[in-house]
Amino acid sequence: MPMVTLHMGNYRTIPYTKLKRVTLFFCSSSAQVSNKLPSFIEMIGERKVVCVTGASGFIASWLVKLLLQRGYTVHATVRSLGDPKKTQHLLAFDGAQERLSLFEANLAEEGSFESAVNGCQCAQLLEPAVKGALNVLKSVAKVPSLKRVVLTSSIAAVIFGVKPPEFGAVVDETWFSDPETCEKQELWYVLSKTLAENAAAEFCKKNGLELVVINPGFVIGPILQPTLNFTSEGFISLIETGKEVFPDGIYRLVDVRDVANAHILAFENPEANGRYIMVADVTHSTDHEDRKPKLSCS
Ligand SMILES: NC(=O)c1ccc[n+]([C@@H]2O[C@H](COP(=O)([O-])OP(=O)(O)OC[C@H]3O[C@@H](n4cnc5c(N)ncnc54)[C@H](OP(=O)(O)O)[C@@H]3O)[C@@H](O)[C@H]2O)c1
Repeated sequence: MPMVTLHMGNYRTIPYTKLKRVTLFFCSSSAQVSNKLPSFIEMIGERKVVCVTGASGFIASWLVKLLLQRGYTVHATVRSLGDPKKTQHLLAFDGAQERLSLFEANLAEEGSFESAVNGCQCAQLLEPAVKGALNVLKSVAKVPSLKRVVLTSSIAAVIFGVKPPEFGAVVDETWFSDPETCEKQELWYVLSKTLAENAAAEFCKKNGLELVVINPGFVIGPILQPTLNFTSEGFISLIETGKEVFPDGIYRLVDVRDVANAHILAFENPEANGRYIMVADVTHSTDHEDRKPKLSCS
């Protein structure tokens, strides 16, 4: 994954809890809150099948765990079924034996998601570059039961407009990053997230699919997979060595469990639509210095 580079500037994002109804479940910040709620499955008494792509990753592993906990049947895709580092932690989750099926699929290979999305009601796309997103969506469009897609985009696809945000500007879901600006500034990760979100929105509109987009800030929290992902590595390095992930030192943080739960609510709540920015706390890296002893110990 390329380096995430964020724009210099002072502005603030609205905490996601204030934006839209679906996110109100997250007011007190972690997974435990919504685990107490009856799941969609309990409410309607039906067996629901959800496909999660890139399932062994940081966010997706939490998503798979919480979906299983809430009674869903999960079709999880990984690139290599032969790699225990990508599968063992998923297979160890409660409910996995009964309700988790693993599929091998690669975003670069056309049609490779067809068996994974078959029979599903919702597809959660966690690692979509443009071609990969369209590849999965083409398979999704062939499955009549599949009406809703939840796409993991990023705050990166929100805040890089033509002009830098003014000091104190409030960022909301009506903001879109500008591909030309991203290209000029060589912000390749930002560009890929922006183009993937645009392409998915266009495809879903044309094909009558409901699309809900989650735009998280910098995701932190407990890691379920045995390897470090890019952002966790960056954050640990910041704590240990002071090496910045972002040139401006501004971090828009959100808990991984909240991000995973937002994906579930984006499916369960019929009124969920459009984009949901997820930022719980905006801090500067100098603030993390104060937390260093606590963070290092945990
Ligand atoms: N972490 C953050 O701070 C953050 C913030 C905003 C948005 N996001 C977005 O959230 C999504 C997940 O992030 P993450 O931090 O959880 O990432 P991660 O831990 O690096 O996981 C990414 C997953 O994507 C899969 N993948 C990569 N290339 C693939 C391909 N060609 N075909 C199929 N699968 C492929 C990998 O699967 P295998 O393991 O099977 O190879 C990996 O499990 C990404 O779209 C990211 O841009 C992340």
